[in-house]
Amino acid sequence: MDLPPLLRRAVDDALNGMALSDLAGTAAALSQRYRDERHDVKAHAISDRDALAYLAVRMPATYAAVRASFDAVADVRPDFTPKTALDIGAGPGTALWAASGCWPGLTEAVLVEASPVFRAYGERLAAKAELPRITWRVADVAVETIDCGPRDLVTLAYVLNELVAATRQSVLRKLWALTADTLVIVEPGTPAGWQRILAARSQLIEAGAHVIAPCPHAHACPLAPPDWCHFAQRVARSRVHRQTKRADVPWEDEKFIFIAVARPAVMPSSAPAPEARLIAPPRGGSGRLQLRLCEGDGQIHDRLITKRDGDLYRRARRLDWGDAL
Ligand SMILES: C[S@@+](CC[C@H](N)C(=O)[O-])C[C@H]1O[C@@H](n2cnc3c(N)ncnc32)[C@H](O)[C@@H]1O
Repeated sequence: MDLPPLLRRAVDDALNGMALSDLAGTAAALSQRYRDERHDVKAHAISDRDALAYLAVRMPATYAAVRASFDAVADVRPDFTPKTALDIGAGPGTALWAASGCWPGLTEAVLVEASPVFRAYGERLAAKAELPRITWRVADVAVETIDCGPRDLVTLAYVLNELVAATRQSVLRKLWALTADTLVIVEPGTPAGWQRILAARSQLIEAGAHVIAPCPHAHACPLAPPDWCHFAQRVARSRVHRQTKRADVPWEDEKFIFIAVARPAVMPSSAPAPEARLIAPPRGGSGRLQLRLCEGDGQIHDRLITKRDGDLYRRARRLDWGDAL
Protein backbone atom coordinates (compact mmCIF):
# COMPACT_ATOMS: atom_id res chain seq x y z
CA MET A 1 0.00 0.00 0.00
CA ASP A 2 1.18 3.52 -0.76
CA LEU A 3 0.04 6.96 0.35
CA PRO A 4 -2.66 8.45 -1.90
CA PRO A 5 -0.95 10.53 -4.64
CA LEU A 6 -2.12 13.90 -3.24
CA LEU A 7 -0.79 13.07 0.21
CA ARG A 8 2.44 11.67 -1.26
CA ARG A 9 2.96 14.96 -3.11
CA ALA A 10 2.12 17.06 -0.04
CA VAL A 11 4.60 15.05 2.09
CA ASP A 12 7.29 15.39 -0.59
CA ASP A 13 6.65 19.17 -0.72
CA ALA A 14 6.94 19.43 3.07
CA LEU A 15 10.26 17.56 2.93
CA ASN A 16 11.51 19.59 -0.01
CA GLY A 17 14.69 21.49 0.78
CA MET A 18 15.37 19.36 3.84
CA ALA A 19 18.78 17.70 3.81
CA LEU A 20 17.76 14.06 4.01
CA SER A 21 21.12 13.08 5.45
CA ASP A 22 20.26 15.52 8.23
CA LEU A 23 16.86 13.94 8.79
CA ALA A 24 18.24 10.39 8.75
CA GLY A 25 19.58 10.62 12.32
CA THR A 26 16.25 11.90 13.67
CA ALA A 27 14.35 9.28 11.65
CA ALA A 28 16.57 6.47 12.97
CA ALA A 29 16.05 7.67 16.56
CA LEU A 30 12.30 7.94 15.94
CA SER A 31 12.07 4.42 14.46
CA GLN A 32 14.08 3.05 17.38
CA ARG A 33 11.78 4.84 19.85
CA TYR A 34 8.74 3.22 18.18
CA ARG A 35 10.40 -0.21 18.14
CA ASP A 36 11.24 0.09 21.85
CA GLU A 37 7.79 1.62 22.54
CA ARG A 38 9.48 4.49 24.37
CA HIS A 39 7.60 7.76 24.49
CA ASP A 40 10.03 10.03 26.16
CA VAL A 41 9.38 13.00 23.84
CA LYS A 42 6.24 14.77 25.03
CA ALA A 43 3.88 16.47 22.59
CA HIS A 44 4.92 19.98 23.61
CA ALA A 45 8.54 19.07 22.83
CA ILE A 46 7.94 17.71 19.31
CA SER A 47 10.20 19.72 17.02
CA ASP A 48 9.86 20.54 13.35
CA ARG A 49 12.52 17.97 12.63
CA ASP A 50 10.67 15.24 14.62
CA ALA A 51 7.49 15.99 12.68
CA LEU A 52 9.29 15.89 9.32
CA ALA A 53 10.99 12.61 10.24
CA TYR A 54 7.54 11.27 11.16
CA LEU A 55 6.15 12.30 7.76
CA ALA A 56 9.07 10.64 6.00
CA VAL A 57 9.27 7.31 7.83
CA ARG A 58 6.21 6.68 10.01
CA MET A 59 3.23 8.29 8.27
CA PRO A 60 3.23 5.87 5.27
CA ALA A 61 3.24 2.89 7.67
CA THR A 62 0.54 4.21 10.02
CA TYR A 63 -1.56 5.21 6.99
CA ALA A 64 -1.32 1.64 5.64
CA ALA A 65 -2.25 0.07 9.00
CA VAL A 66 -5.15 2.44 9.63
CA ARG A 67 -6.48 2.09 6.08
CA ALA A 68 -6.31 -1.72 6.33
CA SER A 69 -8.24 -1.56 9.64
CA PHE A 70 -10.90 0.67 8.04
CA ASP A 71 -11.11 -1.67 5.03
CA ALA A 72 -11.80 -4.56 7.43
CA VAL A 73 -14.65 -2.55 8.98
CA ALA A 74 -16.07 -1.68 5.54
CA ASP A 75 -15.82 -5.33 4.54
CA VAL A 76 -17.92 -6.45 7.54
CA ARG A 77 -20.24 -3.42 7.39
CA PRO A 78 -20.82 -2.29 3.80
CA ASP A 79 -23.85 -0.35 5.13
CA PHE A 80 -21.62 1.97 7.20
CA THR A 81 -21.33 5.40 5.55
CA PRO A 82 -20.03 7.84 8.17
CA LYS A 83 -20.57 11.56 7.63
CA THR A 84 -18.78 12.89 10.73
CA ALA A 85 -15.48 11.86 12.30
CA LEU A 86 -13.41 12.52 15.40
CA ASP A 87 -9.74 11.56 15.44
CA ILE A 88 -7.83 11.75 18.70
CA GLY A 89 -4.03 12.10 18.66
CA ALA A 90 -4.36 12.96 14.98
CA GLY A 91 -0.65 13.70 14.43
CA PRO A 92 -0.44 15.05 10.86
CA GLY A 93 -3.99 13.83 10.11
CA THR A 94 -3.11 10.31 8.94
CA ALA A 95 -6.37 8.64 10.01
CA LEU A 96 -8.52 11.27 8.31
CA TRP A 97 -6.73 10.72 5.00
CA ALA A 98 -7.32 6.97 5.39
CA ALA A 99 -10.95 7.46 6.44
CA SER A 100 -11.81 9.76 3.56
CA GLY A 101 -10.25 7.26 1.14
CA CYS A 102 -12.35 4.45 2.59
CA TRP A 103 -15.55 6.49 3.12
CA PRO A 104 -15.71 9.32 0.56
CA GLY A 105 -19.07 10.41 2.04
CA LEU A 106 -17.34 11.91 5.11
CA THR A 107 -18.10 15.61 5.22
CA GLU A 108 -16.79 16.90 8.52
CA ALA A 109 -14.07 15.98 11.00
CA VAL A 110 -12.70 17.13 14.34
CA LEU A 111 -8.99 16.39 14.81
CA VAL A 112 -7.61 16.59 18.35
CA GLU A 113 -3.83 16.72 18.70
CA ALA A 114 -1.63 17.68 21.63
CA SER A 115 1.27 18.96 19.53
CA PRO A 116 0.90 22.34 17.77
CA VAL A 117 3.77 21.34 15.45
CA PHE A 118 1.95 18.21 14.26
CA ARG A 119 -1.24 20.21 13.86
CA ALA A 120 0.58 22.77 11.68
CA TYR A 121 1.93 20.02 9.42
CA GLY A 122 -1.48 18.37 9.34
CA GLU A 123 -3.05 21.61 8.16
CA ARG A 124 -0.35 22.06 5.55
CA LEU A 125 -0.79 18.54 4.15
CA ALA A 126 -4.56 18.94 3.99
CA ALA A 127 -4.45 22.40 2.38
CA LYS A 128 -4.76 21.28 -1.23
CA ALA A 129 -6.76 18.11 -0.70
CA GLU A 130 -10.44 17.44 -1.03
CA LEU A 131 -10.77 16.26 2.54
CA PRO A 132 -13.83 16.70 4.75
CA ARG A 133 -14.13 20.08 6.52
CA ILE A 134 -11.64 19.92 9.40
CA THR A 135 -11.73 21.56 12.82
CA TRP A 136 -8.37 21.21 14.58
CA ARG A 137 -8.10 21.34 18.37
CA VAL A 138 -4.78 21.45 20.18
CA ALA A 139 -5.71 19.62 23.37
CA ASP A 140 -4.60 16.86 25.73
CA VAL A 141 -7.33 14.22 25.58
CA ALA A 142 -6.30 12.82 28.95
CA VAL A 143 -7.26 15.99 30.79
CA GLU A 144 -9.50 18.11 28.54
CA THR A 145 -13.15 17.72 27.64
CA ILE A 146 -13.82 17.08 23.96
CA ASP A 147 -17.17 18.75 23.41
CA CYS A 148 -17.86 18.13 19.72
CA GLY A 149 -20.84 15.83 20.35
CA PRO A 150 -21.17 12.22 19.14
CA ARG A 151 -19.59 11.38 15.77
CA ASP A 152 -20.26 8.56 13.34
CA LEU A 153 -16.62 7.47 13.27
CA VAL A 154 -14.21 7.90 16.19
CA THR A 155 -10.56 6.89 15.80
CA LEU A 156 -7.49 6.51 18.00
CA ALA A 157 -4.51 5.43 15.90
CA TYR A 158 -1.12 4.67 17.45
CA VAL A 159 -2.01 6.79 20.49
CA LEU A 160 -2.97 4.37 23.31
CA ASN A 161 0.70 3.57 23.77
CA GLU A 162 1.45 7.28 24.24
CA LEU A 163 -1.10 7.70 27.02
CA VAL A 164 -0.05 7.15 30.62
CA ALA A 165 -1.49 3.71 31.48
CA ALA A 166 -3.58 5.14 34.34
CA THR A 167 -5.46 7.47 31.94
CA ARG A 168 -6.28 4.92 29.21
CA GLN A 169 -9.58 3.73 30.70
CA SER A 170 -10.94 7.24 31.22
CA VAL A 171 -9.89 8.29 27.70
CA LEU A 172 -11.69 5.22 26.28
CA ARG A 173 -14.81 6.08 28.30
CA LYS A 174 -14.70 9.57 26.77
CA LEU A 175 -14.27 8.20 23.25
CA TRP A 176 -17.06 5.64 23.62
CA ALA A 177 -19.40 8.38 24.91
CA LEU A 178 -18.53 10.37 21.77
CA THR A 179 -19.16 7.42 19.44
CA ALA A 180 -22.53 7.59 17.68
CA ASP A 181 -21.72 4.55 15.53
CA THR A 182 -18.22 3.07 15.22
CA LEU A 183 -14.96 3.36 17.17
CA VAL A 184 -11.67 2.08 15.69
CA ILE A 185 -8.46 1.79 17.73
CA VAL A 186 -5.18 0.87 16.04
CA GLU A 187 -1.91 -0.04 17.74
CA PRO A 188 1.53 -1.34 16.71
CA GLY A 189 1.39 -5.10 16.12
CA THR A 190 3.65 -5.95 19.05
CA PRO A 191 2.77 -8.20 22.02
CA ALA A 192 2.42 -5.03 24.14
CA GLY A 193 0.19 -3.38 21.50
CA TRP A 194 -2.00 -6.50 21.46
CA GLN A 195 -2.30 -6.39 25.27
CA ARG A 196 -3.43 -2.75 25.11
CA ILE A 197 -6.00 -3.67 22.45
CA LEU A 198 -7.22 -6.62 24.56
CA ALA A 199 -7.70 -4.33 27.56
CA ALA A 200 -9.60 -1.79 25.41
CA ARG A 201 -11.69 -4.60 23.87
CA SER A 202 -12.73 -5.93 27.31
CA GLN A 203 -13.59 -2.45 28.57
CA LEU A 204 -15.68 -1.65 25.49
CA ILE A 205 -17.52 -5.00 25.48
CA GLU A 206 -18.33 -4.40 29.14
CA ALA A 207 -19.67 -0.97 28.17
CA GLY A 208 -22.05 -2.69 25.72
CA ALA A 209 -20.09 -2.36 22.48
CA HIS A 210 -20.57 -4.80 19.60
CA VAL A 211 -17.28 -6.16 18.15
CA ILE A 212 -17.07 -5.65 14.38
CA ALA A 213 -13.49 -6.61 13.57
CA PRO A 214 -11.04 -8.27 13.60
CA CYS A 215 -12.57 -10.80 16.05
CA PRO A 216 -15.56 -12.74 14.65
CA HIS A 217 -16.84 -13.08 18.24
CA ALA A 218 -17.00 -11.31 21.61
CA HIS A 219 -15.55 -14.23 23.64
CA ALA A 220 -12.19 -13.90 25.39
CA CYS A 221 -9.26 -13.91 22.95
CA PRO A 222 -8.15 -17.54 22.47
CA LEU A 223 -4.48 -16.64 21.89
CA ALA A 224 -2.00 -16.79 24.74
CA PRO A 225 1.57 -15.47 24.96
CA PRO A 226 4.10 -15.96 23.48
CA ASP A 227 1.59 -15.92 20.59
CA TRP A 228 -0.21 -12.63 19.88
CA CYS A 229 -2.77 -11.41 17.40
CA HIS A 230 -1.53 -9.02 14.72
CA PHE A 231 -1.62 -8.39 11.00
CA ALA A 232 0.79 -6.87 8.48
CA GLN A 233 0.62 -4.44 5.60
CA ARG A 234 3.35 -4.13 2.99
CA VAL A 235 4.22 -0.46 2.61
CA ALA A 236 5.96 0.90 -0.47
CA ARG A 237 8.97 3.00 0.49
CA SER A 238 9.34 6.20 -1.48
CA ARG A 239 12.80 7.39 -2.54
CA VAL A 240 12.74 9.89 0.34
CA HIS A 241 11.74 7.15 2.78
CA ARG A 242 14.58 4.88 1.56
CA GLN A 243 17.13 7.66 1.80
CA THR A 244 15.94 8.81 5.20
CA LYS A 245 15.96 5.30 6.56
CA ARG A 246 19.15 4.41 4.66
CA ALA A 247 17.30 1.30 3.47
CA ASP A 248 17.82 -0.65 0.23
CA VAL A 249 14.58 -2.65 0.19
CA PRO A 250 11.75 -0.77 -1.59
CA TRP A 251 9.13 -1.87 0.93
CA GLU A 252 8.63 -2.65 4.60
CA ASP A 253 6.03 -4.70 6.48
CA GLU A 254 4.10 -2.72 9.08
CA LYS A 255 2.74 -4.97 11.81
CA PHE A 256 -0.41 -3.68 13.45
CA ILE A 257 -3.39 -4.70 15.54
CA PHE A 258 -6.76 -3.03 15.86
CA ILE A 259 -10.21 -3.31 17.37
CA ALA A 260 -13.37 -1.91 15.81
CA VAL A 261 -16.62 -1.79 17.77
CA ALA A 262 -20.04 -0.30 17.15
CA ARG A 263 -23.14 0.64 19.09
CA PRO A 264 -25.41 -2.43 18.94
CA ALA A 265 -28.35 -0.27 17.83
CA VAL A 266 -26.60 0.58 14.54
CA MET A 267 -25.97 -3.06 13.58
CA PRO A 268 -28.56 -4.24 11.05
CA SER A 269 -29.96 -7.53 12.33
CA SER A 270 -29.81 -8.88 8.76
CA ALA A 271 -26.04 -8.32 8.39
CA PRO A 272 -24.22 -11.65 8.39
CA ALA A 273 -21.22 -11.59 10.75
CA PRO A 274 -17.99 -13.14 9.41
CA GLU A 275 -17.57 -16.75 10.49
CA ALA A 276 -13.82 -16.56 10.83
CA ARG A 277 -10.70 -14.47 10.28
CA LEU A 278 -7.34 -15.61 9.00
CA ILE A 279 -4.87 -14.75 11.77
CA ALA A 280 -1.65 -15.89 10.10
CA PRO A 281 -0.33 -15.99 6.53
CA PRO A 282 -1.78 -19.03 4.69
CA ARG A 283 0.74 -21.86 4.30
CA GLY A 284 1.03 -24.67 1.79
CA GLY A 285 1.04 -25.11 -1.95
CA SER A 286 0.47 -27.77 -4.61
CA GLY A 287 -3.17 -28.39 -3.80
CA ARG A 288 -3.01 -27.98 -0.01
CA LEU A 289 -3.64 -24.91 2.16
CA GLN A 290 -3.15 -24.66 5.89
CA LEU A 291 -5.26 -21.86 7.37
CA ARG A 292 -5.06 -20.56 10.95
CA LEU A 293 -8.53 -19.24 11.70
CA CYS A 294 -10.07 -17.43 14.64
CA GLU A 295 -13.68 -18.57 14.44
CA GLY A 296 -17.08 -17.49 15.69
CA ASP A 297 -16.98 -20.02 18.55
CA GLY A 298 -14.10 -18.03 20.07
CA GLN A 299 -11.50 -20.73 19.26
CA ILE A 300 -8.49 -21.03 16.98
CA HIS A 301 -8.84 -23.77 14.35
CA ASP A 302 -6.01 -24.91 12.08
CA ARG A 303 -7.83 -26.08 8.96
CA LEU A 304 -6.39 -28.00 6.06
CA ILE A 305 -8.16 -27.27 2.79
CA THR A 306 -7.22 -29.27 -0.28
CA LYS A 307 -8.12 -29.26 -3.96
CA ARG A 308 -10.69 -31.92 -3.16
CA ASP A 309 -12.69 -29.20 -1.35
CA GLY A 310 -13.43 -27.71 -4.78
CA ASP A 311 -15.02 -24.29 -4.55
CA LEU A 312 -13.92 -23.80 -0.93
CA TYR A 313 -10.28 -24.39 -2.02
CA ARG A 314 -10.60 -21.95 -4.91
CA ARG A 315 -11.98 -19.28 -2.55
CA ALA A 316 -9.38 -20.03 0.14
CA ARG A 317 -6.55 -19.55 -2.39
CA ARG A 318 -7.55 -15.92 -2.74
CA LEU A 319 -7.44 -15.30 1.03
CA ASP A 320 -4.73 -13.27 2.65
CA TRP A 321 -3.62 -12.85 6.26
CA GLY A 322 -6.28 -10.74 8.02
CA ASP A 323 -9.12 -11.53 5.61
CA ALA A 324 -12.56 -12.47 6.93
CA LEU A 325 -14.52 -15.48 5.71
C1 LIG B 1 2.35 8.01 17.01
S1 LIG B 1 1.53 9.50 16.77
C2 LIG B 1 0.14 8.95 15.78
C3 LIG B 1 -0.38 10.03 14.94
C4 LIG B 1 -1.50 9.61 14.00
N1 LIG B 1 -2.65 9.15 14.71
C5 LIG B 1 -1.01 8.56 13.05
O1 LIG B 1 -1.52 7.43 13.06
O2 LIG B 1 -0.10 8.85 12.26
C6 LIG B 1 0.73 9.78 18.31
C7 LIG B 1 0.09 11.15 18.36
O3 LIG B 1 -0.73 11.23 19.53
C8 LIG B 1 -0.55 12.52 20.09
N2 LIG B 1 -0.89 12.43 21.51
C9 LIG B 1 -0.27 11.71 22.46
N3 LIG B 1 -0.86 11.89 23.67
C10 LIG B 1 -1.90 12.73 23.44
C11 LIG B 1 -2.88 13.30 24.31
N4 LIG B 1 -2.89 13.02 25.61
N5 LIG B 1 -3.81 14.12 23.75
C12 LIG B 1 -3.79 14.39 22.43
N6 LIG B 1 -2.86 13.90 21.57
C13 LIG B 1 -1.93 13.08 22.07
C14 LIG B 1 0.92 12.84 19.85
O4 LIG B 1 1.19 14.22 19.93
C15 LIG B 1 1.10 12.27 18.44
O5 LIG B 1 0.79 13.21 17.46
